Amino acid sequence: MTQTVTAWPERLLMVGCGNMAGQMLARWLACGLPPENVTVVRPSGRAVAPGVTVLADMPAALTHGATILLGMKPYQLGDVAPRLAPLCDADTRILSILAGTPLAALRAQFPQVDAVIEAMPNLPVGIGEGVVGLYTDGRTEATARAAAEALMAPLGLAEWIADESLFNALTALSGCGPAFLFRFIDTLARAGEALGLPVDQAARMAIATVRGAASMAARSGDSPARLADQVASPGGMTREGLNVMDADDRMARLMADTLRAARDRGDAMARGG
Ligand SMILES: NC(=O)c1ccc[n+]([C@@H]2O[C@H](COP(=O)([O-])OP(=O)(O)OC[C@H]3O[C@@H](n4cnc5c(N)ncnc54)[C@H](OP(=O)(O)O)[C@@H]3O)[C@@H](O)[C@H]2O)c1
Repeated sequence: MTQTVTAWPERLLMVGCGNMAGQMLARWLACGLPPENVTVVRPSGRAVAPGVTVLADMPAALTHGATILLGMKPYQLGDVAPRLAPLCDADTRILSILAGTPLAALRAQFPQVDAVIEAMPNLPVGIGEGVVGLYTDGRTEATARAAAEALMAPLGLAEWIADESLFNALTALSGCGPAFLFRFIDTLARAGEALGLPVDQAARMAIATVRGAASMAARSGDSPARLADQVASPGGMTREGLNVMDADDRMARLMADTLRAARDRGDAMARGG
């Protein structure tokens, strides 16, 4: 399903348009962002989509009040910023998806820009079912915050976090989360295979089961914990399976360790490790 956005940025400069920024742009275009509003800078100069201007290097100038999406790799900020900053003014709006790059690092590179926002998307943004974590400070005005929210809305669930120190925790949950769930789906299918189900059938059923359960949880007023208990009648098959997952808090400890490891890696990378 597409989503109508009433106020697209009139000028959107995307610096880098690979896996992640490419998914965001694909979704925006599908939801009606006029392609002529978009300029992509990518060294390869490879075409992106009909109507979108692609440059191999920075443009000579930038329209007043343009929105910039920083979508290259985080380590490329030192190369990009000195060429980009002279094109910016106080009314430029910067959105950064650079993992592990704190707001202070962005503000240091673009000191004249008021609106600087960190955004952490995950891959399902391309189908409008992503999660985007947003963070900024008091220097970014309400209108710029609202514009960022409106731009992120077609990508899925977009929420602000109040504390920047939680950014890597959020990234561990929603940014890395799709990979953890891909692993879960694969493991569920393999477990079905181990019980004798045909390989392709187990794979199809694992995906459909996770999709159905996620949709149900999203629509239900009950918490996932309650839903799990509701489908597990005492002495039944589901309860027997849940007892295995719950024994010694196995599942809880597995997820806690997984998220902590991802979060800690993010913290270490931000310290230059
Ligand atoms: N992948 C994820 O799940 C995910 C999630 C959240 C955030 N992120 C963030 O998204 C960013 C991009 O990751 P990715 O996986 O999309 O990487 P990617 O696929 O390698 O894309 C990198 C893009 O940057 C461009 N580029 C390279 N050098 C450049 C330069 N000097 N100036 C301007 N553009 C340059 C590349 O150009 P060409 O196209 O010409 O090669 C490419 O379009 C990272 O900062 C990452 O932290 C990723």
